[in-house]
Amino acid sequence: ASAVRILGIETSCDETAAAVVADGRLIIGQTIASQIAIHTRFGGVVPEVASRVHVETVTQVVHETMRQANTSWTDLDGIAVTLGPGLLGALLVGVSAAKGYALATGLPLIPVHHIAGHVAAALIDGGVELPFLALVVSGGHTEILRVDEQFYFTRLGGTKDDAAGEAYDKVARMVGLAYPGGPKVDAMAALGNPDAFHFPRSMMEEDNYDFSFSGLKTAVLNEINQRRQKGQEVPVADLCAGFQQAVVDVLVEKAARAMNQTKSHQLVVAGGVAANQGLRRVLQDRAKHDGFHVHFPPMSLCTDNAAMIAAAGTKLLSRGFTHDLSLDAYANLSL
Ligand code: KG4
Ligand code: ZN
Repeated sequence: ASAVRILGIETSCDETAAAVVADGRLIIGQTIASQIAIHTRFGGVVPEVASRVHVETVTQVVHETMRQANTSWTDLDGIAVTLGPGLLGALLVGVSAAKGYALATGLPLIPVHHIAGHVAAALIDGGVELPFLALVVSGGHTEILRVDEQFYFTRLGGTKDDAAGEAYDKVARMVGLAYPGGPKVDAMAALGNPDAFHFPRSMMEEDNYDFSFSGLKTAVLNEINQRRQKGQEVPVADLCAGFQQAVVDVLVEKAARAMNQTKSHQLVVAGGVAANQGLRRVLQDRAKHDGFHVHFPPMSLCTDNAAMIAAAGTKLLSRGFTHDLSLDAYANLSL
């Protein structure tokens, strides 16, 4: 049988992305138009600006992807699109484009939850097989999920306030590092002493899979404000190192506990914060110690992209999960 080819479209935040993926694991065309340079001027993503740039970019991105994939519309088996969660105006651009292509081609439309997309990044390039546990750590989410053989999700726990990436971006802004600050805090942390400050590990001792990062963020802010009031220099590298150590400690502890308590063997880490060097190092050590396998998708698939949406769409299509042209977008959407 010939390969199942899915076109994925992702516009939930600040990347306009399209990809064609064969059999849910081989990327045969991919385009990501990042808006980071545009939003950096404003210190963060401006929703109206994001929507407008998606509108200007999405058809070009799709056509460039189809050209790279050397695929005609009749060679495709479906069109997968992120329906939420994310910025509503941004999501609507991708959903509208996908509906237009589905109407014009008669191809099935496959709605994909953004987080299911992040998780599916691990299935690309033959890294791991279902079932597994997933730790999803992005700018909007921090969750521990069980993913079964059929790609159905059970949420074991998640953040009660800020997402891990959101905390990174806020701390970055506090110490004067430009948006998106996560990678910059990560780089700074490598230069600092993680024991110079001892920040709170919220909810670490609680017997659940939940997180809270807002107290940690406030603790970092207090240290900064105290020094600024006294006219002292702010030790940016040490603050970043201490903050990162606190985040990584709770993420690793809760994920490892979930692995042990559910007797799982494979852990997938997905979302933008999966690129974090500190998290990678500490989690790999813990996995070795506890005897489970941890899989990090390649960096390029950890941050927002459409190949992950196409890969998730392939799994969903195989169990007949499609939608008619009345598909809508949702800013908030549970798995
Ligand atoms: O998954 P993603 O691209 O977008 C969302 O769906 O949110 O994640 C973006 C988030 C941002 O908060 C960014 O600062 C964070 O991931 N991030 C990092 C690193 N690289 C990206 N956070 C910590 N360390 C990194 N190396
Ligand atoms: Zn994302």
